[in-house]
This record gives sequence, C-alpha cells and structure tokens, in this order.
Amino acid sequence: MTSLAEDLRGWIAASRRRVAAASLEPRLDHIGRVLQVGDGVATVAGLPETRLDELLLFEDGTRGLAVDLGEETIGCILLGGGTGIEAGGIVKGTGQVASAPVGEGLLGRVVDALGRPLDGGEAPDFQRMAPVEQPAPAIVDRALVTVPLATGLLAVDAMIPLGRGQRELIIGDRGIGKTAIALDAIINQRSSDVISVYAAIGQKTSAVARVIDAVKTYGAPERCLFVVGEADAPAGLQWLTPYSACTMAEHFMQAGRDVLLVIDDLTKHAAVYRQVSLLLRRPPGREAYPGDIFYIHSRLLERAAKLSPERGGGSLTALPIAETQAGNMSAYIPTNLISITDGQIYLDPRLFYEDQKPAVDIGKSVSRVGGATQAPVLKALSESLRLEYAQFLELEVFTRFGTMVDERTRKLIEHGRRIRAVLAQAQYAPLSLGEQVALLTAVAESVLDELPLERIDAFRAGLGAWLARDCPGALALDAGMTALPEGLAGPLKAALLALADSLKQAAKDAGRPA
Ligand SMILES: Nc1ncnc2c1ncn2[C@@H]1O[C@H](COP(=O)(O)OP(=O)(O)OP(=O)(O)O)[C@@H](O)[C@H]1O
Ligand SMILES: [Mg+2]
Repeated sequence: MTSLAEDLRGWIAASRRRVAAASLEPRLDHIGRVLQVGDGVATVAGLPETRLDELLLFEDGTRGLAVDLGEETIGCILLGGGTGIEAGGIVKGTGQVASAPVGEGLLGRVVDALGRPLDGGEAPDFQRMAPVEQPAPAIVDRALVTVPLATGLLAVDAMIPLGRGQRELIIGDRGIGKTAIALDAIINQRSSDVISVYAAIGQKTSAVARVIDAVKTYGAPERCLFVVGEADAPAGLQWLTPYSACTMAEHFMQAGRDVLLVIDDLTKHAAVYRQVSLLLRRPPGREAYPGDIFYIHSRLLERAAKLSPERGGGSLTALPIAETQAGNMSAYIPTNLISITDGQIYLDPRLFYEDQKPAVDIGKSVSRVGGATQAPVLKALSESLRLEYAQFLELEVFTRFGTMVDERTRKLIEHGRRIRAVLAQAQYAPLSLGEQVALLTAVAESVLDELPLERIDAFRAGLGAWLARDCPGALALDAGMTALPEGLAGPLKAALLALADSLKQAAKDAGRPA
C-alpha cells in the first residue's frame, strides 16, 4: 500500500517538474484543409496568407507548391507521391518558397529537384538553400560573351560556335542524337575548368543512367552535377527540375566559375506543365498549353548570362533541348524556344539515317553570339568551309539523277564529300582545338581529296597521335591565337600529307583501290 502511495507521489513530482519545464509559448500555424487531391495536384482551402510559390506541408509529409492563388482556394502542385493525402486533411503553410541546396558538395552527385540524393549516397553537403526561382542578372551586371565554349564536335565548334554565357537550343526529332551533342559538350569539359550541370526531365531512367555512365567513363564526373526528374517522378518534381538545376548552376556562376547547364528537355517540361495546369483547371491556350508557357521558359533561360568583372565574371551557358515532330520547327514550343535562345543547332533525321552523325543541318543552324568568340585560327578556316559546303550541297542535288558532270564539278563534289565526312564524328571522341584546326587545314589544302572516303574516320582517329609525334606544335594552339604560329604551316601540311599517304598505302595494301 505504501509503495503505491510513494509511486503516486513520485509520479506527481515528476509531472510537476515536466510541466514547470514546459514553455507555453503560443505558436502560430497557418492551417488549411485539402479540398481535392489527385494526379499530382491538390486544391486547398483556408490558407489566405499563402504567397505565390510558397511551400505547403501536408499531413503525410508531402510538400506542395502553391502555384495558383484564388480568393477561396489554392491550386497546389505536389512534390511527392502524395498517396497519404486525404480530402479534409490538414495542410500547413510554411512561409517559405521552394529552395534547393547549393554548394561544392553537390558536384559529382545525382540529386532530385529538392537536392535529395538519387545515387544511393548520403544527403549531399551544401552551403546554403537558395530559392529555385531567382531573378535573372540585370543588364548592368552582364558582360559581352567573349570566351568560347568548346564542345569538341567539329561540326559545332567550326560552324555554330558557342560562347560562354550563351543560350543555344538543340532541336530535332526523337532519337537522332540531341542528348549525344550535349553529352559530348559535357565530356569535352574534362579538358577545361567548366562545371557541368545536367538536368533530366521526364526521361527514361535507363536513358539518364546511360548519360551518367558516359560522363563517368569519358568525362570529369567530379565537376558534374546531375539533377534528375525522371519520367516516373511526381509531375511537380519534374516541373521543378530545370529551375533547381539552374539555381545550383547559378551558385557557381556567382562564385566566378564557368558553368554549362544542359536541360534535357524543355518539350517534356512543357508537357508536364500543361498536364498540371489542365488538372488545376487553368484555362488552356494554344495546343492546350497554359498561357504563361512562353514566360516560364524565358524566365528560366534569361538566367543564363556572362557576368561583368565586378560581379566576378562567371558565366552560365544554357543548352536547352527541344524535340520536334517530323522536323516541324514551327510548332508552338519549338518556335517559343527558338525565339528565347541565341540560336539553335538543328538536327536532321535524314542526315541521321544516312549515317551522318552528328546530324547537324548546317543550313538551319545558327549561333547568334558565339561567332564573336570563335578562336580566330578556326574562324579563318571555317568561313570558306561553310561556303564550299553549301555550294557542294546544291551541286549534289543536281548530280543525284546521274547527270554527267565535267571534271571541275566532279572535283568540287569529291571535295564536298570530304568536308561532309570530316564533319561527322563518333560519340565520346571530342577533338581539341589543334586537331580541329589540323583537320580543317587538311580539307582546305585538299590533302584529303585523294583519300578514299571510308578512310577519313581513320584519318581523324589517328590525327592526334600522328601530330603529337610529327608536329607537336600544331596541338599546342590556344583559343587566343589569330593565326598559326610562325613556321608551323609547312610542317603541319607535311605531317597531314604523310598521314594521308600512309592511309592510302594501307588501303592499297588491303587490296582496295586508293
Ligand atoms: N555522333 C554519333 N555517332 C554515333 N552514334 C550516335 C551519335 N550521336 C548519337 N548517336 C546514337 O544515336 C542514338 C540516339 O541518340 P540520343 O539518345 O542522343 O538521341 P536523342 O535525340 O536525345 O533521343 P531522345 O529523343 O530519345 O531523347 C543513340 O543510340 C546514340 O548513341
Ligand atoms: Mg535525348
């Protein structure tokens, strides 16, 4: 009996202590209720304080983004599966906008739009959280784009040169090497100090894995960051992916670094946005896209910039990708994106299926600001190349029907075919500036005209090693040089001729006519 009384006294004393320690501060929570939920969106009522793009917290821990503010209700995109959310359930306002972690610790990682790891590792170290929506750098904070961004692809670097801070659209039909071009550009940064951020939106997980594997095998993965909202991720996360990726990239730009941001792809991003907008019952516009589809993409791409020296001089180059249907560049989303960017690399399915890879259609591709940044040695060679190539394409159409041609025309056509062969390039084999200049010199000096077409690949592949031995000066070019260094032209041509001769000889020995 006594022990029970003692127990009771002890319990009362302990409870008194607990109650005395508890602070009874009033806490203010904005609480609302779920009216409707499903398909990645929810409608919420009773949160009149909510701001645009504020994060809302649902009972099951799912976060949502308030994107549609009405007088009575709020339309919210869910950033999670949301299977635990019920109609009538509680929603809390957080007073914060959607943010992503930024910092050096993210490099080499694969994360989702909220910075959660997808590579099986620990949560990445980060410096701070930054809002995923940020204003683009102001006009006075920007500088001219003057430094080239080498992709290592001759067709791009020679014909459609890119500059650091530029926005260039990669556009083409399904499965004809859009990702491959961006991927080669990332891989080529292994020989520069550029940081690469790859944002995958609505892609198959296997396709994303292939990109990551390629960068790990051929590139510099420690300077790359992958932000992934794959096809089966909640629509809200897919939608947020390019903004988060841009915020993560911007952090490095603001620290004075050069960053390459690949957004793969904005057509899928537009489709996800259309999906959630229709579910939120926003009025559909052209092709059922919501009216602000142009604005959300321009707001994103305007954040690519070259900063002024006072702001650290960093740069953010954006390579958004867009998919066309049957080569139709004049569809709604492609025309939007073309008008937002500083040029486009157009891929032609016909070229791709003729095995001309990368299938860049030089005629329909432009780079509006990159030309000024192109290495002058390369520029001198590529200007005549573009003209000769255009001439050849016209001539080729005429001769397609078996027209007899004179000797001069035949030579022009043979030369043109060499140009086309030189512009083809295997994946994951970026060329240095020296190799590109050497290849174009070989074309300009007609070194390749007598070489069988099928040996051009071998010529390109063997070029680096050959020059390293016979003419190392040609590989030591830098982008600032206005011409080949004194006395290099002769030895370079001799080395190129010797390589062509050795390949011709090899072809002869193999019993093929040279
Ligand atoms: N230069 C190249 N040389 C050889 N193969 C290439 C080249 N470029 C692309 N390919 C191949 O073409 C296929 C399609 O390329 P990729 O996935 O880059 O196309 P995509 O346009 O991004 O496709 P999707 O529309 O599905 O995103 C891949 O198998 C790739 O390996
Ligand atoms: Mg792709």
